[in-house]
Amino acid sequence: MSEIAIALNRSERAIVTKLARLRQRFEKEGRPPLVRGPALTPEPQAGSPEDLPSPAGPDGVEKEEKGNTMVLTSKGGRVTTLEGLIEVANIDLDVWLIERHIINKWEVAGKFGRVGDEYFELQDLWQVKAWLVRKEPIQVFPVVSPVVIKVLPIPKVPLSLESDIARMRRGIALPDPQFGFTKSLRTAKLDPFHDRAALDVALQIAQDYELDFLCWLGDFFDLADWSDKFTRDPNFFWTTQPSAIEGKWWMTQFKMADPQARTVLLEGNHEARLPKQLIQHMKEAFGLRSVDNLDLPPLMSIPRILALHDLDIEWIGDYPNGQFWINDYVVCEHGDIARGQSGATVSSMVKEAQETKIIGHIHRIESATRTLHEKNGPRGVAVHSVGCLCRVDGIVPGRKARNNWQQAIGMVEYYEDGRPDHTVIPIPINGGRAIYNGKLYEARDRVEEINDTTADRYEDGVGWNF
Ligand SMILES: [Fe+2]
Ligand SMILES: [Fe+2]
Repeated sequence: MSEIAIALNRSERAIVTKLARLRQRFEKEGRPPLVRGPALTPEPQAGSPEDLPSPAGPDGVEKEEKGNTMVLTSKGGRVTTLEGLIEVANIDLDVWLIERHIINKWEVAGKFGRVGDEYFELQDLWQVKAWLVRKEPIQVFPVVSPVVIKVLPIPKVPLSLESDIARMRRGIALPDPQFGFTKSLRTAKLDPFHDRAALDVALQIAQDYELDFLCWLGDFFDLADWSDKFTRDPNFFWTTQPSAIEGKWWMTQFKMADPQARTVLLEGNHEARLPKQLIQHMKEAFGLRSVDNLDLPPLMSIPRILALHDLDIEWIGDYPNGQFWINDYVVCEHGDIARGQSGATVSSMVKEAQETKIIGHIHRIESATRTLHEKNGPRGVAVHSVGCLCRVDGIVPGRKARNNWQQAIGMVEYYEDGRPDHTVIPIPINGGRAIYNGKLYEARDRVEEINDTTADRYEDGVGWNF
């Protein structure tokens, strides 16, 4: 009897009363009396909700807990109230908060009686469902699936073909040495504007690589005593001759390091001081050539003073328009724009750039890039300011002693066969040292050599007080 009561979700007493009434009714209707036999499980009939029968666990309640939430479901069991659901599921309400709940009731027909003599009775079935959240959430970690990566050996990229290497070119841009001196009025000792340590480091790098070109980017000379823009310091007087002699000495060194390299000298604003002075103060001297060789540059000109012809060095004048095109995509210029802040000059220049430019003039290391979107796709161009080779300790005449200047040279790799690929690397030089391609370069003291070798040019063997 108790099994029937549980199955029908009724009390045992209710079942006994119900049976008594049924027996009376059967007697009245003349139907065979009820006899004891196995109870039949009620079967849901048409019209029941789809989700019957209940999937509940042994206590009649299904509990689904996920981190900070829980769903309790009781279907077709004894539970008919929210309180009953909480009690049967053994929920601690100090921990869990009931967010919402639903209670559904529906009728199903139950089958009773012996086999072959069954009858049906309607009974109520209940669904109670509640959604709970934790009052104090716990930390929930996401489910992390292990990532399985199949590791294959890195495919080897073959080295460039020999024919390709053969067509690759390399050159160095040498910016702003500002050859010049301040001369002691008492001892005639010459204190250079150019930095011999930086020049020697640049020379060692040039010697380590087979170069296709060497481009002096302009402001080879400082020519401080040729400008009437500023008050000329008497210490600058009569220093052009030793500047030219030492300048040529270093030019020769670079030529000896890379005799095969095409070498060019661009005119900078400092070289342009010389023709300006001639035009203003001595027009007759401008363009004047020696009659014994009219093919040589004018007597009072930078290429003639330096006797560039005896080293086969090309002069590119017409500052600020003079350009040395390395290939179709890279060009060297001295530069005529100077902005105060680091990066500002190249940022301004790159806006107009249609090709990669290597410049001097501002004595700073700066680079800015831009992508041009052309018919054949995107193409990168850049403006690289590759520093200077003059001293940066304030001796070079300028607006102020503590300049924001950096020493460097520009290493360029490129093709001559129409390919746009190129790399420009400014190699910084600090305190007579530079690192490039895994090697530390340290300057040697060359003053004695400069003194000795240049003094040889004078009959009395007395040179300059370098
Ligand atoms: Fe300069
Ligand atoms: Fe300049």
